Amino acid sequence: MSTIEDELIHIVGQERVSTDKTVLYAYSRDVSLVTGMPDYVVRPVSTEEVAKIVSLASKHKIPIVPRGVGSGMEGGCVPVRGGIVLDMRNMDKILEINTDSLYAIVEPGVIHANLNARLAEKGFFFAPDPASTDFCSIGGMIGTNASGMTCLKYGNTGRSVLGLEVVLPDGAVITTGSKTVKSVSGYDLTSLFVGSEGTLGVITKAILKVIPRPQTRATVAAYFDEVGKVGDAVVAIFASGIIPAACDVVDRSGIEAVNQYKPEIALPDVDAMLILNLEGSAAAVEEEVAGTVSACKKAGAIDVKTAATTEDADALWAGRKAIASAVSRLDKNKAGPNIGGDCGVPIHRVTEMLREIRKIAQESGITIATYGHVGDGNIHCGMAVNVLDEEELERAKRAGAAIFDTALRLEGTTTPEHGVGAEKIRWLKEEHKSSYPLMLAIKKLIDPHNIMNPGKMFEIS
Ligand code: MLT
Ligand code: ZN
Repeated sequence: MSTIEDELIHIVGQERVSTDKTVLYAYSRDVSLVTGMPDYVVRPVSTEEVAKIVSLASKHKIPIVPRGVGSGMEGGCVPVRGGIVLDMRNMDKILEINTDSLYAIVEPGVIHANLNARLAEKGFFFAPDPASTDFCSIGGMIGTNASGMTCLKYGNTGRSVLGLEVVLPDGAVITTGSKTVKSVSGYDLTSLFVGSEGTLGVITKAILKVIPRPQTRATVAAYFDEVGKVGDAVVAIFASGIIPAACDVVDRSGIEAVNQYKPEIALPDVDAMLILNLEGSAAAVEEEVAGTVSACKKAGAIDVKTAATTEDADALWAGRKAIASAVSRLDKNKAGPNIGGDCGVPIHRVTEMLREIRKIAQESGITIATYGHVGDGNIHCGMAVNVLDEEELERAKRAGAAIFDTALRLEGTTTPEHGVGAEKIRWLKEEHKSSYPLMLAIKKLIDPHNIMNPGKMFEIS
């Protein structure tokens, strides 16, 4: 038995340390193509244990990789340089809910949907809304600054994080932010750790902002005969003074994927559709629905429908949320690896971006389902690829690179939502030419021995 294993067992007990290869294998991947075997998996239950484990990693200068449920799309939680994976799922307590002061305090392993179920009992909710709500963890959401359907209206995860408890790479425990809705005291360290993808420390507690649930919600679906018109519709909706709570696109390949995967949803045979949620008081929602329908028609929608029942609305969104899985089922010989899957452009360039992606699909011969949160310029691409066919896989990767190049040319970003992880290291540098050296300097200051999730965001040997 190795010294490190002995020491880990001393900290958390035998049953919460794994070195068995079959267990380690389960921690060697996420939803991306990135793989890497850990040497140890440890399941802490307290900040104190996390601090001791991190101190141990620091003493031996071995990698330490925090992990939520492993649903990340860019290899963020995959231990590409081995070391200790910290499985945070056992730290899943909702410690406090204080709706008078609009906050909840949680441990990182809390599942997003479980938190919202508890908050719903009080008429409140935690607004960031990833498609993976049923299984993603709050810690993973904070680590990647995740977003999702409703971020157009309520902002991404970072906008709803008031404070954090973080274990730094030397084992010290710090707290950032406060329980107040606002604080401008000093540098915004909370924001520094949000989206840092486990490269600066381990999040062990979070103070989250919660808000009252809207009284009413309506879902509108608008159909188009050409994908670019979707971007025009988004601009027209904003121009009429409406910010929908959610505004997602699904293009022809996405529609086909959903219809094959969930035939009962039966989306119409069109080139693209927008699914929108309007939320607020009953009177405001009624007005916004009328305004949205008229803006979509002006932008060239061939048909616009308001979901008649909650079940119809839920079915539309269920189809939309299932696209990543649905794409894999378009062809039984193909998978839906996350290649070129997340890009963003300023809203006035969405039309151009959607058309460019269509061209890239045609030129590469890869089926690309285009979908995502087009209201905030965030577009996802789901590719159907035979990953065992080297030539096809390479072609898909080139198509992915062309998508990112195009997003940057259109003054956008190579990841509005899924993060950098191991997959987008090259793009981080390319996107942030002038500020990249400062990011790297911050990483080196906080984690001088590069033990925190090495091989992510930065290439440090
Ligand atoms: C989504 O919007 O569905 C998620 O970001 C995951 C995905 O890209 O499929
Ligand atoms: Zn998304």
